[in-house]
Amino acid sequence: MWNELNEAAEFLRREWNNPKPEIGLILGTGLGPLMEQMQDTQVLPYSAIPHFPRSTVQSHAGELHLGKLGGFTVLGMKGRFHYYEGYSLPEVVFPVRVMGLLGIQHLLVTNAAGGVHPDMEIGEIMMITDQINLLGDSPLSGPNLDQLGPRFPDMHEAYDPIWCAHFRQAAQQLNIRMHEGVYAALKGPALETPAEYKWVRGVGADAVGMSTVPEVLAARHMGICCAGFSAITDLGVPGRIRKVLIQDVIRAAEQAGEAMGQIILSGLQSAQRKA
Ligand code: HPA
Repeated sequence: MWNELNEAAEFLRREWNNPKPEIGLILGTGLGPLMEQMQDTQVLPYSAIPHFPRSTVQSHAGELHLGKLGGFTVLGMKGRFHYYEGYSLPEVVFPVRVMGLLGIQHLLVTNAAGGVHPDMEIGEIMMITDQINLLGDSPLSGPNLDQLGPRFPDMHEAYDPIWCAHFRQAAQQLNIRMHEGVYAALKGPALETPAEYKWVRGVGADAVGMSTVPEVLAARHMGICCAGFSAITDLGVPGRIRKVLIQDVIRAAEQAGEAMGQIILSGLQSAQRKA
């Protein structure tokens, strides 16, 4: 795995003439348009990068973008890998580790999620302040890759409080309502039953989805600071649970995505000014 990660990183260094990315960006379902705001962008399909997993989901393009966003040099993943697609968790986090080897110090992750906090409405945004791994597995299980990080990585500030403060302030200034809370990941691909939503709420989550947790585990293992946002695309709140159609999820994510993009851009710009 170490050799494969390095071959992928070395390939990208050569192709892109020794890039110096500062931030990694992973955009979830319906949240892609933020990538279009990147400037001076160079793009490579995942299929061109040695050892990169291949996308199975048609709607996920599977491209790595290098460009400028909010004053930072950003590596953006258009299309991510999910555990439910059959990838192993080390495959799911392979691109994050490659971005880490290329030098990113921050990772920004977005996703679509079901809201289980009773104050939430469809189309709203939640900034992730902590996470719960309900996948029953970890990308860090098995022999530790000591070159990447420690056997027992600390997770007490999995989502960086300083970065969160920038985004909180950005949302306030933009007058956008933004929840803050705990994201729990289940494997899926079926959505939750009402009993499962109740259970997820009971263990301390505010939103539930099928991604993000592995990527943040791999990033924290490497000492990378993380931030994350969920688009609340449906509700797992008793009395308000409806049949979930994927088109509705995409529509709600697109609705939330516009405001989310504004918060991210403005938060990055304020982080850049203070850097
Ligand atoms: N559960 C799990 N994943 C999801 C959901 C949900 O309700 N909505 C969007 N992704």
